[in-house]
This record gives sequence, C-alpha cells and structure tokens, in this order.
Amino acid sequence: MSEFKTSQAEGLIPNFVNTYELEERAQKVIPADAFGYIASGAGDEFTLRENDRSFNHKLIIPHVLADVENPSTETVVDGDTITAPIILAPVAAHKLANEAGEIASAQGVHNFKTIYTTSSYASADLPEITTALAGSPEWFQFYFSKDNEINKRIIDRVKALGIKKIVLTADATVGGNREVDVRNQFVFPLNMPIVQEYLPQGIGKSMNYVYGSAKQKLSAKDVEFIASYSGLPVYVKGVQSALDVERALDAGAAGIWVSNHGGRQLDGGPAAFDSLQYVAKAVNQRVPIVYDSGIRRGQHVFKALASGADLVAIGRPAIYGLALGGSRGVEQVFNKLTEELKMVMQLAGTQTIEDVKRYQLRDNNFL
Ligand SMILES: Cc1cc2nc3c(=O)[nH]c(=O)nc-3n(C[C@H](O)[C@H](O)[C@H](O)COP(=O)(O)O)c2cc1C
Repeated sequence: MSEFKTSQAEGLIPNFVNTYELEERAQKVIPADAFGYIASGAGDEFTLRENDRSFNHKLIIPHVLADVENPSTETVVDGDTITAPIILAPVAAHKLANEAGEIASAQGVHNFKTIYTTSSYASADLPEITTALAGSPEWFQFYFSKDNEINKRIIDRVKALGIKKIVLTADATVGGNREVDVRNQFVFPLNMPIVQEYLPQGIGKSMNYVYGSAKQKLSAKDVEFIASYSGLPVYVKGVQSALDVERALDAGAAGIWVSNHGGRQLDGGPAAFDSLQYVAKAVNQRVPIVYDSGIRRGQHVFKALASGADLVAIGRPAIYGLALGGSRGVEQVFNKLTEELKMVMQLAGTQTIEDVKRYQLRDNNFL
C-alpha cells in the first residue's frame, strides 16, 4: 500500500449543525489534492452549483391541522427495512478521506441501517466491505470493462457475496474535465483492489487514465449482458432524460438512477433535480427511481421524493462525515438528514414516506 496519509478520525463530530459546514471542516483534515478531487466539479462547476440552487425551483407548502405526529421515515426496499430512504452513493476510494476507508463507511451505514453502494474504484476489496456491512443491503456500482472476461469475473465475485443489485454507471465513459485535479496535478495515490486486474498500474495514475480503462462505447447491449449474466437487477446511473429512460428500460434495466455524478462529469448540463421530474414522468412508476446530486438537507430529500424518487443517495456529505468522524461521522450525517427530513415532514403535514411521495410541491414562480 502507498504512503498516502489522511484523517484517522473516529467518533462523533462535535458541534455539527448542518452538512454544508462539513465541507470546510473536512478540508482541514484531508490532504489538499485529495480534497480537491472529492469536492470539485467539472469545468466551470456550473452544474455543480446548479445542483444546490435547483432545489429552490420547487417549494414545500406547509400544511396545518394535518393530524400528524412523529412522522416515520422508515422505508422497505426489497424486504429490507431501512431507517430512511437515504442511501450511500458509490464513491471511489474512501481512504482518501479517512485511513479506515470503506470499512468505517460500511460500519456507519450498517449502524444507521440503510443501503451501501460499493464503488468499482473502492480502496478496499469487496469481501472486506461486505463483511463490515454485517448483513446490511449492499449494491455494487459497475464501471464496465472493455474486456468481458474481467466483467464476468467481477460479476461472479459480486454474486458470490450476495450483493443485491448492480448499478451500471453510464455517465462517466470518459473522465470529466476536473480542472482542480489538473491544477493540483492530482495523482491517484491508492490501490483499487476490485478493478486492479485491469488496472495493473492503478497507483500513481490520474483519474482520467482510470476512466479511460473502462468501456467507452456503452450501449443497451451492456445492460442486457449484465442482467442476463448476473441474474441481478440492474440500475442505470446517470439518467436525466426521457430518451435514456426508454433506452435503459428497453434493455431490461430494473431501476433508474437520476444523477449528474455530483457535477463531476458533463459541465453545462442541468441540475439533476431539474431533470428528475421529466425522468419520473417517463418512468411512470414502471421501476424504482434513485436520485442523487446535491442532497444536503432534509428538505432536499423531501423535494426529491415528492418529485418522483423512491430513494435518494448521498456522496460528498457522507465522505466528509467519514473524514471528520469515521464510522460515527458517517452515521451522524445520515442521522442529521433524517432528523431534518422528519421535521420537514411534520411541518408539511406528511406522516409517512408514502405521503411525501404523493405530496404536491409548488413551482417557485418568484425566482
Ligand atoms: C469523490 C467522489 C468519487 C465518486 N466516485 C464515483 C464512482 O466511483 N462511481 C460512481 O458511479 N459515482 C461516483 N461518484 C458520484 C456519486 O456516486 C454521486 O453521483 C455524487 O457524489 C452525488 O452528488 P453529491 O456528492 O452532491 O451527493 C463520486 C463522487 C465523488 C464526490
């Protein structure tokens, strides 16, 4: 393993008021170039900023006299009850943020009781993560290789571990233009055990190199292949349009994951939240929808659910929690968003997550 040194924090994050402030605090404990890789977006970061701003395009009208008390955020996914419809997005190399890496994240996710999505570019190996999850539901995010034998070997390992779904990331067929990484001359300092076979020189390569090793010419056929070879449900991640919904569903996708990769891929594109309503209309309840990009508040979770998402996923906030508090920090981030969501649910007059999904947001015509 490399000489890379980062935070080793483990324990509750003191004076934690909201997830926004964690970014600045995490910057103090993560090496500058690794922090740049985590926090930044592509190009001018227009899309990254839009991810935050766009939640103001919809408004939650408070409802009074609604006969609601102590709303419940519990959600059942494929028979598993999770504490809230908030799950962990796939994020590469958690060891950039904390030396305990994915193991601590998995423990935090397990303690909170939700779903963990393992990245193909994890800095821990699959069985270690699965063990740390101790039975909590795990999904696997796939960066598909050009070499189908490698794909098959990865799928075989995923299946043998009892992982429940495969998430095919389709919006990163080339690395985004991460200018912060260029400026920092960021070189990936860690091993990526899951994909090491097709990345013999994984350590010391830029992320653009890593993405270049994945299959660029992705098509519906790849979704069909993964679904038929694995027999597992395949979600397609990075969908923002009705056209892509049809492509994915025609290919046999079992779920749609709306995302713009946290503003890290195509700059100049819409906020993922602005795309969600169009995707939800096209999906028309045929399959579940996961939403990520820009979730920082309970009200964002509420708005995404009321716009058609069944689950939301978080990326950076969980990683900042990991940097500042290890497994406890990750758990605390999920708890904070859940507490905020509960408060919003109470004030909006919604008792259950099903009520939130039926809730009519108002368009903000005042911007
Ligand atoms: C540091 C970092 C690494 C990421 N690595 C991956 C990855 O390996 N695979 C993937 O599908 N998405 C990856 N993503 C994107 C996330 O899954 C997710 O789409 C994004 O973080 C959501 O936005 P948020 O950070 O605003 O919550 C990564 C995001 C970050 C911040």
